[in-house]
Amino acid sequence: MNKIETCIFDLDGVICDTAKYHFRAWRRLANELGFDFTEEENEQLKGVSRIESLKLILHWGGMTENDEEVLAAYAEKKNNWYLEYIDRMTPDERLVGVTAFLDELKAKGIKIVLGSASKNSKVILERIQLTHYFDAIIDGNSTSKSKPDPEVFLLGAAEVGSRPKNCIVFEDAEKGIEAALKGGFYAVGVGQPDVLDEAHIVIPSFEYLEFEDVLDALSSSVGSMA
Ligand code: BG6
Ligand code: MG
Repeated sequence: MNKIETCIFDLDGVICDTAKYHFRAWRRLANELGFDFTEEENEQLKGVSRIESLKLILHWGGMTENDEEVLAAYAEKKNNWYLEYIDRMTPDERLVGVTAFLDELKAKGIKIVLGSASKNSKVILERIQLTHYFDAIIDGNSTSKSKPDPEVFLLGAAEVGSRPKNCIVFEDAEKGIEAALKGGFYAVGVGQPDVLDEAHIVIPSFEYLEFEDVLDALSSSVGSMA
């Protein structure tokens, strides 16, 4: 296995749980438009860009809307509600084990990069007080292609001068794992093994996780795939 210089983290679902706020805001929009959707359907929105999420939700509600201005107005409305929710986030909303894992990476001189589809990532990192850990932040404001395109991770690696083969991507979304693999990164799924089965390895969370554990598991997995 190659030497690891950099760890790239998705934000939503890896560092904090913002899916519930996306759900609440999208649902408010759907309800205003006269329909509802379930938390299970919401799962399909993980890692999906704002506009693509909107199109899926409208489809679930049986609505076809092609007017770009109307779509943008709906997306803005949802985002304003979402901003109200995330504005109240606190450091307590960091997912379990994340702080200790980032501290360990810092102590070992491993670079830490954010690779998120969200255009709100900087607000969230500020509210949960993690901004200072990151050597580079690449998000929906600096990318033109959504996951599963590897653009966000490739830009992140380039910004800290690492090659993909020397980086690990941590992702909770299937599309994010696909993006990492397409870009030539090591891919660690965070969540359910059955959903993230394409990843090199899957961890349930960062609780009690040490960097060495990840390297060992990756080495075995990459070795067994060779
Ligand atoms: C991803 C989330 O991180 O960001 C998606 O998993 C979300 O659910 C996407 O739609 C875009 O987020 P935002 O904050 O730019 O609307
Ligand atoms: Mg995610």
